[in-house]
Amino acid sequence: MLKKLDHIGIAVDDLDNAISCFEGVLGVKVQHREIVESEKIEAAIFNVGDTRIELFSPISEDSSVKKFLDRRGPGLHHIAFEVENIQAALAAARESGAQVLDEHPRVGVNGTLAGFIHPKSLFGVLTELVEYVQ
Ligand code: CO
Repeated sequence: MLKKLDHIGIAVDDLDNAISCFEGVLGVKVQHREIVESEKIEAAIFNVGDTRIELFSPISEDSSVKKFLDRRGPGLHHIAFEVENIQAALAAARESGAQVLDEHPRVGVNGTLAGFIHPKSLFGVLTELVEYVQ
């Protein structure tokens, strides 16, 4: 069961520059920055109403985000929905025939548990499911 749109993820080459750009163009203020080891990225979070924008850039050559940027350049990377129970949501997606990229949830931004569904299963949109654990 989806609870809400949790965030929209945008991949960028230069995080400092992208933060300045979002602050300047959209008048939003960055809330916090965080290294996410499981993704090999640094993320910057903007709260927008009850959802968020996450900008992120790779911190390692072998980050999948680095490959994304090399192939497609900066831009919309994924959308994320909050779910009640990440294990159940990933199992249900798998059961439906979707290609689920995470056998088990990984630790995402803010200590959330997260799992991804391959874009080819959802019309070209990489989709993340997120559970808040605390
Ligand atoms: Co995300």
